[in-house]
Amino acid sequence: MTDANAIEVAGGVPASTLNRIDLSCSDIQQSVSLLKQACLDSGFFYVINHGISQDLMEDVFVQSRRFFSLPLSEKMKLLRNEKNRGYTPMFDEILDAENQIQGDYKEGYYIGVEVPEDDPDAQKPYSGPNLWPSEDILPRWRQTMEKFHSQALNVAKVVARIIALALDLEADFFDKPEIFSKPIAMLRLLHYEGLLSDPSKGIYGAGAHSDFGFITLLATDDVPGLQICKNKDAKPRAWEDVQPLKGAFIVNLGDMLERWSNCIFRSTLHRVIWNGQERYSIAFFVKPNHDCLIECLPTCMSEENPPKFPPILCQTYLAQRYYDTHADLDVYKKEGA
Ligand code: OGA
Ligand code: NI
Repeated sequence: MTDANAIEVAGGVPASTLNRIDLSCSDIQQSVSLLKQACLDSGFFYVINHGISQDLMEDVFVQSRRFFSLPLSEKMKLLRNEKNRGYTPMFDEILDAENQIQGDYKEGYYIGVEVPEDDPDAQKPYSGPNLWPSEDILPRWRQTMEKFHSQALNVAKVVARIIALALDLEADFFDKPEIFSKPIAMLRLLHYEGLLSDPSKGIYGAGAHSDFGFITLLATDDVPGLQICKNKDAKPRAWEDVQPLKGAFIVNLGDMLERWSNCIFRSTLHRVIWNGQERYSIAFFVKPNHDCLIECLPTCMSEENPPKFPPILCQTYLAQRYYDTHADLDVYKKEGA
C-alpha cells in the first residue's frame, strides 16, 4: 500500500520555520510565549543554547557512526532485548504500517537509564541494565552515551518547566517526585540507509508517526530528511521540511502530552524522507515514571471542555503503543539471528 496523500510532495516541499527557544535567555516570559505559540501551531520547536557542549554533541555522533560501521554480525550480538535496549536492525520498526511496504529503512540503538539487575526497579517493563558494546571494540562508547543521556535529561527537565508555564501550571509542576523522579528516558541512535525514500511506493526512512511520550529531543547531522505535517486530519497531507540546525535540539511533543493536556497541545506527525546521503540522528525520548497517572491537567479542562480521555498509567499507555510499532522479537529467533 502507498500513501496517496504523499504523492503531492514529489516535487519538493516548503521549508518549515520553527521557533527557537533559547535556554540561556533570561526573559522567561519570552521563552514561554515562543514555546506556547510553537506548541499550538506545530508541536515542534528548536532549543538552542541548551548547555550541552558542542564537543559532546559531536562526540555522540562520532561514537554512533563507529557503532553502526561494525559488521552486522557484531551488531546482532547486541540485538534489542525485551527491555527494549540494544540494536534495532533495518525494518525492525514500522511506524506507518498502513502506508509502508516494509519497515523503516533505518537501524538504531536504544540506551535507557542504567538500572542494575539487582535493583527492584529492574523488574519493571523497559527498566533494567543496558546492553553495551565491549570496551575493546568501542572504547569510551559507554562513557559518552551515559554522559549525553544524563545531560539531555537535564535539558528535557528545563524544557518541561517552560511547558508547565505555557500550560498555566506552576513552573515545577512536572518536577514532582511522582512524575519525573524516575523517568523512562530513552536515547536512540539512528542511522538511515538503504533505498531512496519514495512515498508513492511506500518507501520511507521513517514512516509518518507521532512520538508516544512526553517530549522528544532530536539532534541531527546536517543532512535534511525530517518532515512535519501540522494538520494530521488534512487530506491530502501537507508536509514541510525541518532544516537541521547545528548544535540545537529539534523538540517535539509526544502523544502522552497531547493526552495529558486534553489536546490543547498537539503532538505532530513527522517522517523521514531519505535522500541517499548518509544520515545520522540522535533521538532522546522522555516519558514520566512508570506509575505516573496521565490524567487531564487541571488547567486544561473546563465545563465546556471536559476531559476527553480517562486517566491511564504511563507504562500501560506505552506498552500498547510500543507493541503496535515494533516487530515481534520472536521474528529474529525464527530467522536464526
Ligand atoms: C523518531 C524520529 C526523526 C529523525 O525516531 O521518532 O522521528 O530525524 N526521528 O531521525
Ligand atoms: Ni519521531
